[in-house]
Amino acid sequence: MPKRIHFIGGILALLCIATFLASTILVELFGSPAAVAQLKSLIVTPGLWILVPCLAATGGSGMFLGKSRRGRLVANKKRRMPFIAANGILILVPCAIILNRWASAGTFDTSFYAVQALELVAGATNVTLMALNVRAGLLLTGRLRAPAPTPS
Ligand code: HEM
Repeated sequence: MPKRIHFIGGILALLCIATFLASTILVELFGSPAAVAQLKSLIVTPGLWILVPCLAATGGSGMFLGKSRRGRLVANKKRRMPFIAANGILILVPCAIILNRWASAGTFDTSFYAVQALELVAGATNVTLMALNVRAGLLLTGRLRAPAPTPS
């Protein structure tokens, strides 16, 4: 059961953040202010209500699965997790809530774009760290094969 929770939670969390990031870039570049406001609202509800439990379930089940495993892949996954969690809780969630408030009030000023830039950087960082954890996980379970070493 923890394995299944970890797999589904991890993949869903990565998909959520990647979707938030890609849709934010697209709507900021090509969308109207109303479309930006609509997306900001969707990122908070239902977005954060899906992302935060998925991240918590992935971290919790990962720590449980990691107890019985040794090695570099598990150690690296463990080391990345606090950054993923802190980035999510301290930067991404507050940014999403503030941006939603400002966008729904029609406030697209310098502060809005500064917080938006911070959210994009934090989001891209988390997508990278989570993708590395998914890759390491798939290597651990054998769903993905490590590339063969190149002959020297
Ligand atoms: C957001 C963070 C994480 C993501 C996205 C993630 C993702 C994944 C994925 C996709 C798998 C493959 C599961 C499968 O093929 O069935 C996996 C396996 C695994 N993960 Fe994570 N993981 C994360 C955090 C962690 C943490 C913090 C640990 C703790 C060390 C951990 C330990 C493991 C272990 C031990 C496995 C292998 C499980 C097995 O033997 O079946 N993961 N992970």
